[in-house]
Amino acid sequence: MQIAIVGSGGREHALAWKLAQSERVSRIFCAPGNPGIASEPKCHLVPLSVTDYEGLARFAITQNIGLTVVGPEVPLVGGIADRFQEAGLKVFGPTAEAAQIEGSKAWAKQLMAEAGVPTAKAEVFESKEAAIANLQTRNIPIVVKVDGLAAGKGVTVARSRDEAEEAIEKLFSGSDPETVVIEDFLEGQEASVLAFTDGKTVVPMLPAQDHKPIGEGDTGANTGGMGAYAPAPVATDEVMNKIQSRVLDPTLAALQKRGITYRGVLYAGLMISPSGDPSVVEFNCRFGDPETQAVLPLLESDLLEVMLACTDGRLAEIELKWRSDFAACVAMVSGGYPGSYDRGKIIRGLGAATGALVFHAGTTNQSDSTGKTRLVTDGGRVLGVTGRGSSLQMALDRAYGSVEQIHFDGAYYRKDIGFRAK
Ligand code: AMP
Ligand code: GLY
Repeated sequence: MQIAIVGSGGREHALAWKLAQSERVSRIFCAPGNPGIASEPKCHLVPLSVTDYEGLARFAITQNIGLTVVGPEVPLVGGIADRFQEAGLKVFGPTAEAAQIEGSKAWAKQLMAEAGVPTAKAEVFESKEAAIANLQTRNIPIVVKVDGLAAGKGVTVARSRDEAEEAIEKLFSGSDPETVVIEDFLEGQEASVLAFTDGKTVVPMLPAQDHKPIGEGDTGANTGGMGAYAPAPVATDEVMNKIQSRVLDPTLAALQKRGITYRGVLYAGLMISPSGDPSVVEFNCRFGDPETQAVLPLLESDLLEVMLACTDGRLAEIELKWRSDFAACVAMVSGGYPGSYDRGKIIRGLGAATGALVFHAGTTNQSDSTGKTRLVTDGGRVLGVTGRGSSLQMALDRAYGSVEQIHFDGAYYRKDIGFRAK
């Protein structure tokens, strides 16, 4: 089968790397992809944008693509799966209606209320004045969120009412009128549980933990994710059972009740309370980045078979098999990220990084004046370096061992990935 992957980040590289291992996969086309994906067996890049739905559908028809896997949220929320389904094409990822679970926090909160899923108490405000007035009724810390997609950067956890008010002022200062969600602060440790679903059955992958802030000890500005590891011990078997029965199953049932068949990955971003009770911080309609770079290297099952079981409504017949190892992914980012940063820095040392999997994110090939091409940085998150081992420490040692071999000007990475599990 020929398959296509939509996206160009580390998550899509991990998807390509894993799907290429399937014996049933003959060729993989990635739109637009990155140089790391291009270097994987069976993989080819296609210069189409992730939001060129017509172009991508035409490509799938003319190239006889048996399955298109969508990585990022923007095309899913934008309706790529609807467009593919209308054309009779197989697509892994939810429709625009279902993707609102990530696209609108207000929609997701309403769904969770219908499903009885534990989550922070929240209120939605369409005017700045009403939002600010509401702050007086709340305890500190207060969580202020923008309603739409914000690439993980639309949340302020305010330690004072003034800080919350400032965040609200900022949200409403843009040209478009914003909708803001204000919610209670949840205490505990976070976990990311990505689950496969065919709309009837929902099967979690190994639990992971992301590291969103830029600084060690989870300090500083939020990023797209500075590293992840799996399995995360905070999600014990007992906690995972609660996540299944209190979060995943009722969410799917509430979607079904609305007549929505959700196919793809449902990603639950959870807060696990000190007593081991999960609450939903957010849902995403896709694989996580960088969680995918830590989770897929532990999957033994053929990913294509699992994805086809989701698109064909046969997930109940499949059993996911996992290695009994740990994996840890360390993101190497451009100096300055998540603020402004330079591109075009030469990346060296990949050949020496042999003890780990190196997933590309913001990289590109650049020709110099002599016509020689070099791999250079081309984004905030540049590489995700994943180590595996029989203990978390071994996985981390392998990841960091390879990270230390790789160099580019201004490279930054967190040195404490996995610290909550130690
Ligand atoms: P989100 O974009 O909703 O995932 O939020 C980004 C990050 O903000 C989360 O990963 C949490 O660390 C933090 N956060 C969001 N909502 C809450 C909450 N209600 N309580 C505590 N922390 C939160
Ligand atoms: N790692 C967070 C996300 O993918 O949204």
